[in-house]
Amino acid sequence: MEKEGFNTRAVGSGEIKDKRYGNVVTPIFENATFIYPNSSPERIEDWNTKDSYIYSRWGNPTVSALEKKYASLEGVKNSLSFSSGMAAITSLMLSMELKGKKVLSVIDLYGQTLSFFKNKFHSMTGSKIDLVSTDEINEMDSIPEDYGLVYIESITNPSIRVADVRKMGKLCRESGIKMVVDATFASPYNQNPVRIGADYVVHSGTKYLNGHSDTMSGFIGTDLNMERQFDMRKNLGGSLDAFQAYLIQRGMKTLGLRMERHNSNAMAIAEYLQENSKVIEVFYPGLEDSPYKKIADENLRGYGGMLSFRVKGGLDGARKFLFSSRIISPAPSLGGVESLSTLPVDTSHGSTSAEDRKKMGVTEDMVRFSVGIEDVDDLIEDISNSLAQID
Ligand SMILES: Cc1ncc(COP(=O)(O)O)c(C=O)c1O
Repeated sequence: MEKEGFNTRAVGSGEIKDKRYGNVVTPIFENATFIYPNSSPERIEDWNTKDSYIYSRWGNPTVSALEKKYASLEGVKNSLSFSSGMAAITSLMLSMELKGKKVLSVIDLYGQTLSFFKNKFHSMTGSKIDLVSTDEINEMDSIPEDYGLVYIESITNPSIRVADVRKMGKLCRESGIKMVVDATFASPYNQNPVRIGADYVVHSGTKYLNGHSDTMSGFIGTDLNMERQFDMRKNLGGSLDAFQAYLIQRGMKTLGLRMERHNSNAMAIAEYLQENSKVIEVFYPGLEDSPYKKIADENLRGYGGMLSFRVKGGLDGARKFLFSSRIISPAPSLGGVESLSTLPVDTSHGSTSAEDRKKMGVTEDMVRFSVGIEDVDDLIEDISNSLAQID
């Protein structure tokens, strides 16, 4: 299956097709428990436990089908799904064998991950986390020996900085250090981190993977053994329900189609914004003059659907833009078919200190925009009308 194209895998990978019924799409196994031990000669085993299914916190056929589809799109041998992106991230981080070594990560992390790293990780694991900027990560030529793990985001929020995953992967490998990449903003269509040097990729499946802003989920993908992560999921209980898994695998079938449109809409809008007199600065790695264009070209297959920009008029100007829109909803999530915009200082970075905001490049006049798949001419007209409201 892996030799087939992205969309063919998105549609066909992992599907449960039972010839006895002739069903063409995966059924929903809404079962908390299963006959155990299952002595049927035709029993189908859980791909994680290699045993028959027993209890849905451990494994469930619909959930396995989703995990196989995700693994195929990510190009990895193994994957686990979770009830949210944070469940995936915390389960992975708590299952790491750090042996007292430190973690190197970035200050411009997703807010909840940052909060977990700053406030919980040390007391739960005994390991410390050092935070630098994504730019500093990109400039590193070696990693000190006291680090056991590097954790980065391949495209950061909301400054849309691009991490050099390939370079960092090489440095990590040379030093025997493991690397985790949160590639939520890129999606597996634009980037497969494990294929370019990461040991683990994590995703908030709530975003592009599902794509319809109506379910929560998280994923870990890797070529390594996942016994420890599987065990952590069983312990912490962040497993996905069969009905959610069904909806997510349904959304995933169109990931490639949606990402093509997200990529092209965002590029056209970034170029439009650059020319608008009410806009001070645009952050999008596809722009020719973006400081991240070269790194993006070396690490991504597409520049993605996320962009940020600064408007004239400070916080008032940004709020005026946000609430003048007819098509773009002012809401904080991302990666769905519908366009959403948000002010990081009012939402994700509301409780971030002024000093940290500065390091992250977050300003009061910054709008973060998750570009949807609507017709781009309609979006540009809507944006133009909203910008015109700014004095
Ligand atoms: C980059 C990134 N990682 C992780 C998460 C956490 O995912 P979830 O909200 O599904 O727990 C988010 C959520 O916005 C995110 O943007």
